[in-house]
Amino acid sequence: MSKGKKTQRLDKILGHLGYGSRTDIKKMVKQGRVTLNGTVPKDSGIQADPYEDRIAVDGENIDYREFVYLMLNKPQGVISATEDNRDRTVLDLIPAELRAFSPFPVGRLDKDTEGFLLLTNDGQLAHDLLSPRKHVPKTYEARVLGEIGEREAALFREGVALDDGYVTLPAELEVLEVMRGEEGVQSHIRLTLSEGKFHQVKRMFMAVGSRVMYLKRVSMGPLALDDSLALGTFRELTEAEVELLKTYKKSL
Ligand code: URA
Repeated sequence: MSKGKKTQRLDKILGHLGYGSRTDIKKMVKQGRVTLNGTVPKDSGIQADPYEDRIAVDGENIDYREFVYLMLNKPQGVISATEDNRDRTVLDLIPAELRAFSPFPVGRLDKDTEGFLLLTNDGQLAHDLLSPRKHVPKTYEARVLGEIGEREAALFREGVALDDGYVTLPAELEVLEVMRGEEGVQSHIRLTLSEGKFHQVKRMFMAVGSRVMYLKRVSMGPLALDDSLALGTFRELTEAEVELLKTYKKSL
């Protein structure tokens, strides 16, 4: 039976899903724990179509996919990286069966920034979303010191010079609320950037004489943070959201 180009070695398919090394999988096959279309294969290197063939481990059918796409509501105190010597990383918030796909964060949020972070193992998609030439918009909400208003909105529309002299691209600032309390005046704002320089939001507010006290990303490209995700939790993107991302990527 010809299965075209979609077939792969059975041990590779199971390896991708995190079932272990080639040797581990060989052992599992020998022990009769793996079935292919209902029968125990003789060889763990047999060709199979992960989408069309029925592959089971210990009687459970596997759910094969090449890519995973996760939306995480990043809490403060964790690093947007795959490993770190000192701190917990966003991957520590993901269970082992999804870590097996080797997802990585699409871009970085500072340790003290919360909110929307996409994790995927789809390198091409990540590359396009992060490319400085594609200008994918990212929206943040922040609480900042002082009364922010039309002056700052105009400066951000024009572009402000950061501490290293870099002049930012036009950004859209909306003031949601000005709060007057015992600690003085603070403003709740929403800012949309089409670039992602290091600590950009914090440095833009420094450039206009303010300071960011709290920062959260609420959207990136066509996707917004799911309000029902508690801080530190994640969910897989729905099929519709993955399609939206792919269509968006094509339009870039
Ligand atoms: N801008 C910042 O200053 N920090 C972030 O984490 C993201 C954007």
